[in-house]
Amino acid sequence: MSLAAEQPVLRELLRAHAADFAERFGPGPRPRVFFAPGRVNLAGAHLDYNGGPVLPMAIDRGTFVALRPRADRRLTLASTVESGDCEVDLRRSPSRTGTWADYPLGVAAELVRASGPQCGADLLYGGNLPIGGGLSSSASICVATAFALDRVWELGRETLDLVHAALRAEREFVGVQCGIMDPYAIGFARPGHLLWLDCKDASYAHLPVDPAALCIGVADSGVRRDLARGDFNARVEQCAAVFARLKSLAPQAQCLRDVPAAVLNDARAQLDALHARRARHVLSEVERTFAMRAALEAGDLAEFGRLMAQTHASLRDDYEVSTPELDCLVESALERPGVYGARLTGAGFGGCCVLVLAPGARAGLAEHVQARFEQRFGRRPRVDFFQGDRGPREIEL
Ligand code: GLA
Repeated sequence: MSLAAEQPVLRELLRAHAADFAERFGPGPRPRVFFAPGRVNLAGAHLDYNGGPVLPMAIDRGTFVALRPRADRRLTLASTVESGDCEVDLRRSPSRTGTWADYPLGVAAELVRASGPQCGADLLYGGNLPIGGGLSSSASICVATAFALDRVWELGRETLDLVHAALRAEREFVGVQCGIMDPYAIGFARPGHLLWLDCKDASYAHLPVDPAALCIGVADSGVRRDLARGDFNARVEQCAAVFARLKSLAPQAQCLRDVPAAVLNDARAQLDALHARRARHVLSEVERTFAMRAALEAGDLAEFGRLMAQTHASLRDDYEVSTPELDCLVESALERPGVYGARLTGAGFGGCCVLVLAPGARAGLAEHVQARFEQRFGRRPRVDFFQGDRGPREIEL
């Protein structure tokens, strides 16, 4: 389905969301509705916070926000997919609640900090993106909130500014030490393109992809680990620690991505095995990511996919963020002809795998992966096929 043909589907979903809003918040003026996509990442796994290049693509599933201004200075946040509402006074700095509401709350606090208290609003969140599944549901909700509040409060901020408000909310208010990839991937998405983002200087370029040649699948392991946030922050700290050691041997390096592979090889004996493995993933992934861009530009999807599968092996063995369920999804997808590559996407520790395939390879793929997975784990995982998408936007109903 082309993006143009998707729009009526999205509008229908948002109409239903606006109706849910009226049910939750009562009669009154019709709410304005906004959408921000999620993303898959095809190359550059765990490179953003190491200053490396990444290659994400926004997908046509994401966060819905319905919003109606209030006469007072209160902000009410509710959700159709998460439990627990939250109400705050915009004249006071909010405290963390430890719930889903921290993401939008952190963004609202960021915008208020920079522009002063604004009018209150009732917001209802929803969406069609698996939550906590590695498809960037958290950046999606943050960017959607930044975009929606910017429009309703008429702040006139640039996309880059909104992306950074989303990022600061997640890092400073929620407390996840994430890199810049996810909000950039969502904020700067362009349909029919992947985003090549160099996380060292945040420069980016849009690389065209031909939907007639390449299709994106997502297989969801169904595993959600509460520990993921702690495990993720631990990887960030391990990379910072190994970079601190290697920097004395590579004084020009500004981040782990800059350390030459030869320096790591020579230093291996002085590093503990875990840190050496983490650095080996990062440096090999930097090389693979450049090679994947070259393969994409040369139209060599077989090579692109081969490198993706190598990334998964590196994430499993050196970075240790895979799970048996994710490995099974990758292995079974790769058994099918026409599947170029597969790997876990997002942080790992559960969540989803992204599959890159020839459009003709869709037939029977989901059934095959589901059957293989069911043999081992006794349940059938979801397998979906996604289109690329544009960035956050208001939807006219
Ligand atoms: C999570 C983080 C991103 C990135 C990926 C791994 O999605 O939010 O910043 O580090 O993991 O590539």
